[in-house]
Amino acid sequence: MILGTPLSASATRLLMLGAGELGKEVLIAAQRLGVETVAVDRYADAPAMQVAHRSHVLDMTDPEAILAIVKRERPHFVVPEIEAIATSALAAIEALGLATVVPSARAVRLTMDREGIRRLAAEELGLPTSPYRFAGTLAELEEAAIMLGFPCVIKPVMSSSGKGQSIVRGATELALAWQEAQTAGRVGSQRIIVEGFVDFDFEITLLTVRSAFGTTFCAPIGHRQEAGDYVESWQPQPMGEAALRQAEKMAELVTDNLGGRGLYGVEFFVRGEDVIFSELSPRPHDTGLVTLASQRQSEFDLHLRAILGLPIDPGFRRPAASAVIRGKDLGWGPEYSGLEEALAVPESDLRLFGKPTASKLRRLGVGIAGADAVEEARKRARRVAAAIIISPVS
Ligand SMILES: Nc1ncnc2c1ncn2[C@@H]1O[C@H](COP(=O)(O)OP(=O)(O)O)[C@@H](O)[C@H]1O
Ligand SMILES: [Mg+2]
Repeated sequence: MILGTPLSASATRLLMLGAGELGKEVLIAAQRLGVETVAVDRYADAPAMQVAHRSHVLDMTDPEAILAIVKRERPHFVVPEIEAIATSALAAIEALGLATVVPSARAVRLTMDREGIRRLAAEELGLPTSPYRFAGTLAELEEAAIMLGFPCVIKPVMSSSGKGQSIVRGATELALAWQEAQTAGRVGSQRIIVEGFVDFDFEITLLTVRSAFGTTFCAPIGHRQEAGDYVESWQPQPMGEAALRQAEKMAELVTDNLGGRGLYGVEFFVRGEDVIFSELSPRPHDTGLVTLASQRQSEFDLHLRAILGLPIDPGFRRPAASAVIRGKDLGWGPEYSGLEEALAVPESDLRLFGKPTASKLRRLGVGIAGADAVEEARKRARRVAAAIIISPVS
């Protein structure tokens, strides 16, 4: 691998589709190696745009708009950061040889829709998953729920961070859950997945890196979700050797099938001896923010190095945890205080994403902390997050 000089004819260029907080960290990693960076999102001043050489605001569900920007910027790597992208454009970029799509156009297409990845994992690769059905109408949902029993989990096939997701405990709640899924999904009229509820002991994200030198795993990350959205994570999640090997085997099988180079976040439920595949992101995972403190190379460094074909070192360094800082309805340009208290927590760190507006429940930052043991790290990270006060501009 030869890296050029940014902003010159020799530049190595990386274009990120989606410019949120995870993309911001990847672009910071890229900046450190002198990679020229371009950030794209549907709104101005998005977090990753603030650290990129250039940025563009466009509708990423419009394939023509994506192709036009790729032809103009001529990146070597196109790196999707979110799910809501016109994947036909990624396929065209790959087919025309315009750039390397990370990890691959097919991986992005299959994982943007819960149906694609679930059918691949369960039906083609035979991985254990929750029992599931897909439904396109309320009547189909009712039929599916009867087959699967209660409680069951309902999610739009195209959604993330818990949007439109509900746990249904009886037949009378189905109509409301259907409505929720329709209005909160990413596109107008939504297909949904209905899953049997898995009463797991804990859930993990297994960061899996496909580099030029093979497949490597990070230590398992434990996390806690509220209403389908991540609120805290920690590494390592204590778990049995056998269960961990099983999870690694499954992660390797599915990521080998999806191919390409880069970091994947593979989610599993663990119940007793059973390891159940849940879903996967073909990119850094929100729960992996903890690796900013816990590993020699964070998930963002690992992703960037794998993309560039460079050696990686996912070595675990120190127990750590992350706790999300969420917004209230505060409008544009909120102010952050309490930093002195937050950063006085031992071994603490903080990310404020710099999102231009604060709205209810929007993720605006993350508190991070290390400690001798995970439990103490979790307490510290929560203290960091709780100390941050967000207020409207004064
Ligand atoms: N079948 C299920 N049984 C129990 N909990 C579930 C199930 N599906 C999802 N969850 C919970 O909801 C969270 C979010 O669901 P997930 O499928 O990962 O959606 P997202 O794409 O929004 O992350 C999971 O991390 C888990 O805590
Ligand atoms: Mg998930």
